[in-house]
Amino acid sequence: EVHDDSPIEEVRLTVPTTDNKDLPVLTLRTWVLGLSSCALLAFLSEFFMYRQNQIGLDSTLPQLGLLAVGRLMAATLPAKSLRIPWTGWKVSLNPGPFNIKEHALVMILASSGFSIPYASAVVPQMKVFYHREINPWAALLLIQTSQVMGYGFAGVFMKFLVDSPYMWWPATLVDVSTYRALHEVEVRQKGALTKIQFFAIVAVSSFAYYVVPNYFFPSITALSFACWIWKSSITAQQIGSGISGLGLGSIGLDWSTISMIGNPMANPAFATFNRLAGFILMLYVVTPLVYWRNVYNARRFPIFSPGTFDEAGGKYNISRVLDSKRFELDKSAYEEYSPLYMSAFLVVSYGFHFAALIATLVHVALYNGRSIWQQYKQASSSSSRSDDIHTRLMKNNYKSIPQSWFIVLLLMMLGLSILTVEGFGKQFQLPFVGILLACAMVFILLLPFGVLVATTGLVSLRSHRIN
Ligand SMILES: *[C@@H]1O[C@H](CO)[C@@H](O)[C@H](O)[C@H]1NC(C)=O
Repeated sequence: EVHDDSPIEEVRLTVPTTDNKDLPVLTLRTWVLGLSSCALLAFLSEFFMYRQNQIGLDSTLPQLGLLAVGRLMAATLPAKSLRIPWTGWKVSLNPGPFNIKEHALVMILASSGFSIPYASAVVPQMKVFYHREINPWAALLLIQTSQVMGYGFAGVFMKFLVDSPYMWWPATLVDVSTYRALHEVEVRQKGALTKIQFFAIVAVSSFAYYVVPNYFFPSITALSFACWIWKSSITAQQIGSGISGLGLGSIGLDWSTISMIGNPMANPAFATFNRLAGFILMLYVVTPLVYWRNVYNARRFPIFSPGTFDEAGGKYNISRVLDSKRFELDKSAYEEYSPLYMSAFLVVSYGFHFAALIATLVHVALYNGRSIWQQYKQASSSSSRSDDIHTRLMKNNYKSIPQSWFIVLLLMMLGLSILTVEGFGKQFQLPFVGILLACAMVFILLLPFGVLVATTGLVSLRSHRIN
């Protein structure tokens, strides 16, 4: 027997090399649970986003809840078949036990409602901050087209980012472990715990611990000793505060503070340390240099703030430079009032992000360029000889979605989004070349960033909300 497994050790340790292709997957349960939980989660995420004190939703709760509902349906529903009217199709109400594939698919459907569409921030911002009316259809189209376009792009790059055995998506392995623990029957060895027992213990204790920092003792999010010792020193607060300063010597006992640098449980150590090095360089070397050497009068502004400021150090008054009729920047008013300033941290962080953008392109070209090129040649020559075990199982057991579907979807969304920005009285003030430029950027950046996330688990581009 030839050793036939994934080239990545973490994958070999987590993902089985067998597949039971007879498990029912697209069952009535999958559709009912998947679609309803998607709608519910989308509503909740969007609803909670507007709270001052945001409630982050975690996927663990739906993951366990849906398993319970799925098992309940399997235990109670009769094994009858329903005939779908006007088609010859029949669906079974209860095709046996709720299986691992159904569970995973339900969660995939549910979690597509989990993240809030990026464009859905635009609409309330225009209404609340700038008091502009928007055509509801235009708003709906903007959100839908920009969101669905992402699926088109994802499909176009699928063969590089999913089919390649070297793209192993570290965070996904956490899910694989969870599903296996929840579904695989395991015999308990003497003196050892089964996966599900271990999972239950960790889940209960981490929940118990989570309640403490979040409800009873929020200050352990950052224990800033310097601030307690030098209570009235501004410099000590700037250096020592873990919330609004550099956080030197400040300790966080809250997992959300720790996982700021990506999830250290899922991501490979080299990626976490790499990120830590960048963090130290940016926060403890460059930002203090910029601030205390007073570059661009940086000391007039807070060292650490997402806000925007005017020359005198006050909050920037947007209404003074906004032409309220045309809703555009009034250049002469801007020159009269003040240039726009940001905190030292924000300036440095923008600089690092732009550098990271180009660094990513160069890194991926140098380190992954060869394997991407081979993947491309192999995919276009349609010989699947050197595929790894998992890709081969997928290819042999299931039909894949034709590339052309994704391309058609992408082109349809592109056309619709151009209609959206050019129609409706040009409410979004974006010329259609803006859409084309955005698509071109995605086309250039998606592959390198996808490779980075798929191999390190880190997402390095964060959005900064500027009020
Ligand atoms: C901002 O500018 C507008 C227009 O000049 C003025 O009416 C308003 O009072 C200013 N707001 C603040 C907070 O200074």
